[in-house]
Amino acid sequence: MSLYAIGDLHLHFQSQLKAPGQLTDPVWKGHEQRFRKNCAALVRESDTLVLAGDHSWGRNLAECERDLQYIMDLPGRKVLLRGNHDMFWDAKKTEALNQQFEGRLFFLQNNYFPYRDCAIVGTKGYTFEGPFYLDRRRRVTGWDEEEAAHAERLVEREAERLRASFEAARRDGFSRFIMFLHYPPTNILERRSVFTDMAEEYGAEQVIYAHCHGKSRFNDSIRGVFRGVEYRLVSGDCLLWNPARIL
Ligand SMILES: [Fe+2]
Ligand SMILES: [Fe+2]
Repeated sequence: MSLYAIGDLHLHFQSQLKAPGQLTDPVWKGHEQRFRKNCAALVRESDTLVLAGDHSWGRNLAECERDLQYIMDLPGRKVLLRGNHDMFWDAKKTEALNQQFEGRLFFLQNNYFPYRDCAIVGTKGYTFEGPFYLDRRRRVTGWDEEEAAHAERLVEREAERLRASFEAARRDGFSRFIMFLHYPPTNILERRSVFTDMAEEYGAEQVIYAHCHGKSRFNDSIRGVFRGVEYRLVSGDCLLWNPARIL
């Protein structure tokens, strides 16, 4: 019994939309088939596979049907996080999604998923992504204050959702946590954030995140052990479509 994770599948069986890198970077060529093959070789039905957001380019549930079916057909128990591109998933309707897909997919939002004696907790998260102003040597000299203030409000809301997830697990007696985010836990200028602080507060063993895809973004946030917590990036192209073994 193992726990695996990967993010940013950006499936588009029913949609013409693609991420910019999906058009040019060869790592995306036939990624659906490669990922399915890698899962078949690695993941067993008794395992759990966390998909850390940006599942589908579909704009609503009807446009995601084939993408979600592809995910349901993968081996193991599937836990989904909300990514910034998952338009089909209204945060307020998570319970309805969990009812509709009961026993097939679990949507992680203001709730948790048990894995052995661990609780899988998480939320989409948020990080300020600029615009940043750079000097000629590409050092950051400033940023858009209005955008930064807007980002701060989104970070606050996501922090509340993350706390709700931790607390739901704690109420049920869990004290071991693996924390998931779609967005990286810190922006390119930070080494700490409300998310890293919460990981430390609850004693999360690992923080797993995605969203940073394309080689130039793989080191946008923290990776490795910081202040006792292990941080891992699991965007699909970074993992060459091999799910990362978390536990
Ligand atoms: Fe993405
Ligand atoms: Fe994303």
